[in-house]
Formats: sequence, C-alpha cells, structure tokens
Amino acid sequence: MASSRSRVTKDEPELGAERHRVFFALWPDAATRGAISRATRAVVQSSGGRPVAKERLHITVAFLGELTAAGLETARAVPPLALGGPFELTLDTIGVWPESKVLWLSPSTVPTPLAELEARLWDALAERGFRADERVYRPHVTLARRARPVETEIEPVSWTVGELALVESFPDGRNVHYEVLERRTL
Ligand code: 2AM
Repeated sequence: MASSRSRVTKDEPELGAERHRVFFALWPDAATRGAISRATRAVVQSSGGRPVAKERLHITVAFLGELTAAGLETARAVPPLALGGPFELTLDTIGVWPESKVLWLSPSTVPTPLAELEARLWDALAERGFRADERVYRPHVTLARRARPVETEIEPVSWTVGELALVESFPDGRNVHYEVLERRTL
C-alpha cells in the first residue's frame, strides 16, 4: 500500500511564529503496540532499516502539517466524530515503498468504519479551512525507514480501535517525539 494522503493548510506562514506539526492518528494501546512490535521484529531486522521505536507506532488519519497556535486551536475545535463505537482493524500486509524506502504494515482491506472516519474527519477539517491533498488514503504503520525491499508474510495483528488521537510531533535529535494532545472516543 502507499502513503497516506494529507496536506493542509489554512495557515499562511508567519515569520517567527511558533509552529505545531500536528496530525490525527490511531494510537495503539500498549497491548496492540506490543503485538505489532512482536509480529514485525524479524522483518524490521531483515529490512536493514532504521526502526521506529515501539512507543511511536501509529496510523495517521489526517496530517495537518505545520500550524500556527491559532491553527492548532482550530484543529482542536473539530467536534468528536462518534462512529458508534470501536471497530476492528486487521494489520496483515507488510511491504516497502520503493520511493520512500518506508517499511509499512497495513490492513489488506480498509474497514468501512476507518474509511468513514477519514472522510468525516476531512469533512470537518474542510469546514474549518483545512485541505487534504488528492492522494488516496492508504492507512499504514511506519515500521522502519531506509529499508530494503522485503517479501514476507506476517502473523496478522488485530487491533480494536476505540479512539482517535490528536498528536503533535517535536524534533528530538535524529528522531521525533510525539505527544498525544487529546483522545476522542469513537
Ligand atoms: P509516515 O510515517 O508515512 O512518514 C508524523 O510525521 C506522521 O504524519 C507520520 O505518520 C507520517 O507518515 C505522517 N506524515 C508526515 N508527512 C505527511 C504528509 N505529507 N502526508 C501524509 N502523512 C504525512
């Protein structure tokens, strides 16, 4: 599968203004994080790529880009998108995108509730001036970067998704640090 669609922004760059790199994501609970990590450890190693630390594993639903403080407040004001409860996601497909060398884990079929969540989230964001890019949404967990191609099968990981998180990304040396700003029950 390919990369997730994204890209905003209602915010025009302001020189010297503080910026917030923000996205909505599915953020795994500890058990799911552990299951993803265990199921993919061998293939991450064999890919030779730089692994994403277990605590940073996630699936982006909507990438908002670099926002001003006002843009962040606007994103926070998106109302909860109650989907009527949790949904099941089966992560069963793994691969490497040749262009980005990202090793990814995906559902072979995007469940309807996730497609609906993404569409409704972007509807709510569009009402507030955010714009998605034209790329098809391809939900994925990035497992490693600068990976060599891999061809393998993995033990599927089942994830009961009950929340949508709003996350901010901070530079942290060669890595990034993620902070979950809020969680919304689905
Ligand atoms: P990636 O792991 O495939 O790079 C924080 O950077 C999160 O936002 C990551 O999940 C990252 O996906 C995603 N992301 C970064 N830039 C993006 C963009 N331009 N479009 C979509 N998602 C992006």
